[in-house]
Amino acid sequence: SNSAPTPSPLRRPNYIPNRISDPNYVRIFDTTLRDGEQSPGASLTSKEKLDIARQLAKLGVDIIEAGFPAASNDDFEAVKAIAKEVGNAVDADGYVPVICGLSRCNEKDIRRAWEAVKYAKRPRIHTFIATSAIHMEFKLRKTKEQVIEIARSMVSFARSLGCDDVEFSPEDAGRSDKEFLYEILGEVIKAGATTLNIPDTVGITVPTEFGKLISDIKANTPGIENVIISTHCQNDLGLSTANTVSGACAGARQLEVTINGIGERAGNASLEEVVMILKCHEGMSWEVEEYTGLHVQPHKAIVGPNAFAHESGIHQDGMLKHKGTYEIIAPEDIGYERSNEAGIWTPCLRKRLEELGYELDNEQLENIFWRFKAVADQKKRVTDADLRALVSDEVFQP
Ligand code: KIV
Repeated sequence: SNSAPTPSPLRRPNYIPNRISDPNYVRIFDTTLRDGEQSPGASLTSKEKLDIARQLAKLGVDIIEAGFPAASNDDFEAVKAIAKEVGNAVDADGYVPVICGLSRCNEKDIRRAWEAVKYAKRPRIHTFIATSAIHMEFKLRKTKEQVIEIARSMVSFARSLGCDDVEFSPEDAGRSDKEFLYEILGEVIKAGATTLNIPDTVGITVPTEFGKLISDIKANTPGIENVIISTHCQNDLGLSTANTVSGACAGARQLEVTINGIGERAGNASLEEVVMILKCHEGMSWEVEEYTGLHVQPHKAIVGPNAFAHESGIHQDGMLKHKGTYEIIAPEDIGYERSNEAGIWTPCLRKRLEELGYELDNEQLENIFWRFKAVADQKKRVTDADLRALVSDEVFQP
């Protein structure tokens, strides 16, 4: 059926409440409700945001960026509601997601973010300022020294409000001077930042370059060993997933992603592609698709309806012999049924026919298969009634 299954937890069975103690733990930071909502044409009601936040928590996402509280009253109220409800729903394992609010580097935004997230058990303020030459000169009209001073004092201001989890992002880091990045990041660490997020804001880097950016920051920023390095990769060149994975290999321990990869312009790295944690995020994918009106293309990796559809005869034949021939992920792991009922024709023609009560030899099966292919070329979905007709043609033909 097309109804979304209830997501089951994404997190590992041996979940460790204090994740910070494990140096290899990679945190998933979901920004569907903030950067994702910045997708052209997508806007979410407060109720939809709360629903999505509940699902993200069920999925076991570590940090939920719930919105940009200073952007509007609606955004503020939605973040607050999420902080109050989802940010306090501690489960039996002691898990409760961090609830994060975005703010520019100014007191008004930061105060607003804190007013919204402070109700959560684990609140976070995420503040950002641009560090690339083009942004500093034309957008901010500030010198490097001024930008460092603003970043340092605003991180310190966020901490002074009582928030002990502050994330800092040098916007457009992908196009920023590296020496400048080491300097500003070192200063915000001293001021109390706990996570340093490295955004490739315009999605211009390639994986080797982005990985090197992360490892250079790791090697050259004073005090970096005390904080978490994070990635935030936009998808303008279609490389956001590859860049994110490259960042993780280079030492990033927080990855910023969105469900279905939605976000500004060409979007962000998608949660399902990046983490490949396969339990039932299909349900979330459908919910985000429905609420935002942004449709998942058929060939979208992991969650697209074609992701497990094997069309060619050679592939179907291989799949009948061993599923590993053409599938590296089991459709069941993300909630798809191995059945044409879900709109996915997986290679189990034989199995489906058996389920319908037919016992056929190999020759009959092969004949049916070729007719099935002909029907499938003409119709979007081959139904059980079509299969029965194909069997009856084969078995009862004169
Ligand atoms: O793309 C970007 O630079 C951002 C930051 C605010 C993290 O969304």
